[in-house]
Amino acid sequence: MLRMWDDFPKITAPSDEESVVSIERLTLLRPDDWHLHLRDGAALAAVLPDTARRFARAIVMPNLVPPITTVALAAGYRDRILAALPNNPHFTPLMTLYLTERTSPADIAAARTSGFVHAVKYYPAGATTHSDAGARSLDRCEAVLAAMEAHDLPLLVHGEVTDPTVDVFDRERTFIERELAATVAKFPRLRVVFEHITTRDAVEFVERAPATVAATITAHHLLLNRNALFTGGIRPHHYCLPVLKREVHRQALLRAATSGSPKFFLGTDSAPHARHTKEVACGCAGIYTAHAAIELYAEAFDEVDKLDRLEGFASCFGADFYRLPRNTAVLTLVRTTQRVPAELPFGDDCLVPLRADGEIAWSIAD
Ligand code: NCD
Ligand code: ZN
Repeated sequence: MLRMWDDFPKITAPSDEESVVSIERLTLLRPDDWHLHLRDGAALAAVLPDTARRFARAIVMPNLVPPITTVALAAGYRDRILAALPNNPHFTPLMTLYLTERTSPADIAAARTSGFVHAVKYYPAGATTHSDAGARSLDRCEAVLAAMEAHDLPLLVHGEVTDPTVDVFDRERTFIERELAATVAKFPRLRVVFEHITTRDAVEFVERAPATVAATITAHHLLLNRNALFTGGIRPHHYCLPVLKREVHRQALLRAATSGSPKFFLGTDSAPHARHTKEVACGCAGIYTAHAAIELYAEAFDEVDKLDRLEGFASCFGADFYRLPRNTAVLTLVRTTQRVPAELPFGDDCLVPLRADGEIAWSIAD
């Protein structure tokens, strides 16, 4: 599947004993983003072109205020997304419903018949941005989970406990122990995506789980460890949930993403927030990466010399898991440095993207 043309191979490591031929140009089936926050209104219009320029499809998170809890709300949101991209017929938003304790089996049946709702997202109440309406636990949603299993509609989980006595860096591991393992065991045919995994524990859980369980991995968790939160001072633009973890976890994520296992695929979790809501005494969680998402993943895969594994991760395994056709169009990346602006427009505000005022080693070929 992979088409990689190192048409101009370049010898790049004269200091090593062995010369390394570096890949200068990489053509992939067009990728999809399996976890994305698009917001609404002027914010939606500001960020959507970044994603549509790179990705054919995206799983759109339902954590608006109020949340997208019904097929009717998802239909309206989908129309607003399509209306915000009048000149791009090539991007397809894949909608999700927000699981609450009032979600019913009938909502699940309606989602399945809609043809445009592809999953249901569980935010443990209070776990992250706009999660107040979430269910308190998966135990409280068993009839709905059974309906999802029967209708073969995937469950997407924000995998962190909200118990304030649990250390914030342990909340993902504790979620596996307290909730996820039991749900996977109880609903053996339910497809589950463990979203934006951040720990070696999550990697190992997904590897050992049945084929019904997969995970998305963000670019920022592949590129940064928790030191990035404190480099020379506190860095609010590196704060997201789940929070960045130790280097040992970043290494485990890199191994998983580049392993070729179809259980791990691309989900940016690009989560835009206005600058003033992050540079404040109590700042919002979320990192914006949509402006250069696939280029950032290319950097991460390049770091471990696994660019040949990027296409499976970015363009194939997610579509297979969601039982959607793989894209047929392609996207070409080139090893050309791009400069990232210090800020980007965001409706009446601005946002600070990842690598703001810095450089990314890859670009999209025009
Ligand atoms: C997301 C957001 O801002 O909507 N924030 C984040 O830090 N990832 C919510 C989420 O996915 O947790
Ligand atoms: Zn998210």
